Amino acid sequence: MGGFAGGVARTRQDIWGLSRIDPWHPTIAWYEYAFRVLRTTTDVSDPLSLEAIANIHGTNLDPASWPSEVGPQDWNACQHFSWYFLPWHRMYLHYYETILRGIIDAAEGPGDWALPFWNYDALDPQTLALPPAFLQPQRPDGGDNALYVAERADAILQGFGVPEWDVELTGWPDIFTHASLFVPTFGGPMTGWSHFGSAMGHLEREPHGNVHVDVGGDFGFMSAFETAGLDPIFWLHHANIDRLWEIWRNIPGHADPQETGWTTAGFDFGFGHARRTYWVSDIVDTSASQMGYAYEGVPVFVPGAGGGGFALEGEQQPAPRGEPRLVGASEGEVPLGPDPAAVTIGVEPPGGLGLDAAPPEHVYVVLQNVHASTARNRTYAVHVGVPEGDDPAGHPELLAGRFSTFGVVGATQAHREEAGGGLTVSFDVTGIVRRLEDEGRWQPESMRVTVTPAPPPDPEKALALDETSDLRIGQIGVFYD
Ligand code: C2O
Repeated sequence: MGGFAGGVARTRQDIWGLSRIDPWHPTIAWYEYAFRVLRTTTDVSDPLSLEAIANIHGTNLDPASWPSEVGPQDWNACQHFSWYFLPWHRMYLHYYETILRGIIDAAEGPGDWALPFWNYDALDPQTLALPPAFLQPQRPDGGDNALYVAERADAILQGFGVPEWDVELTGWPDIFTHASLFVPTFGGPMTGWSHFGSAMGHLEREPHGNVHVDVGGDFGFMSAFETAGLDPIFWLHHANIDRLWEIWRNIPGHADPQETGWTTAGFDFGFGHARRTYWVSDIVDTSASQMGYAYEGVPVFVPGAGGGGFALEGEQQPAPRGEPRLVGASEGEVPLGPDPAAVTIGVEPPGGLGLDAAPPEHVYVVLQNVHASTARNRTYAVHVGVPEGDDPAGHPELLAGRFSTFGVVGATQAHREEAGGGLTVSFDVTGIVRRLEDEGRWQPESMRVTVTPAPPPDPEKALALDETSDLRIGQIGVFYD
């Protein structure tokens, strides 16, 4: 465990570690208490009610009925499909944690209480399920347990875990951001203010989005921006995403954006007496006095001081160049339903496939304009180069990655100044292409892309949604860089 820098007052701990000591460990019991207090305030014009706090992230309430102190960008404000995704959610967690600490302090609870994180670890199957305190309708003293939420996927409520393949931590890009929506990044593309934007960073896609739909199922709170904050596990899920950002930053060669569009961005949270503004430059160091926390097991990363807590897996990738070039695309839309979809794309690099065909440094497969007015909540696996007739599941070496339907319906509608062009999901398949080349199996003139649905988290529920779903990929593009 790395040395924690001086300013750290609180340690965010692993909820499963605590649960194994005691399912109602004091840190968990105090969380339940504070969440219950937030929930008892049902007046949404109180900025310290759970609903008002969750509405910052998203709300179904018509703006005409918002409290007068709430400005047009104060609710439905979560930043997604953007390089602001990680800093915005870090601020939001800190805002929430500060409110909870106020409640715990007022009840004379532990002064060093901090939000735990949910580390769903594919190598430790028990951790894929919700901890026991989140699955019991009653507290040990018989009262209603605020950590229990009936609006979750059936399998989750029954104690099954999220599928391990949805939380794999492989293939992290070395770059945090990029100007192009087609270049895979760790933290999301350079954008302006972005609620229902388009292209997501790797961490936002997996495990983040996958866990949302696995826990929320077809109708649960976790499946939609507008209700996610009402489930107490949302905050522990995001603490884990925030922790994974800290781990990524500790890998040599990785760095946050230096552009002022990122470092000088600020966001407001809450309204009235509970209003607070955070600036990105103030939150990048979690040990700075304003933040004052560290994650159990992760060295505090102090920007500028050099990282180095973790080793890089494999080689660092060459940096992407400018805007990658489209070298092939599917014809027409690709509908996505309960059955796998496969498309063979003709690839024609500029300069041809012949002599001058210098191999590209990067090959990307990009699902463009993924859109739906209704869709079942599930995750999809994307493979490249699976021979016709083979089951993609038998080819883990050809897996480009996974994505979920989280946010797709919102991204399809036009909102405020956002156009509603659907999602852009990009995968770096350079490693797969190299492997196929080495094995003499690479065919440069075409690429077969397979998109395979996982069973929805609620297999029995709302089968009708499969019939009304109009989830589609507008186009699958192959890009060279
Ligand atoms: Cu703003 Cu996990 O969502």
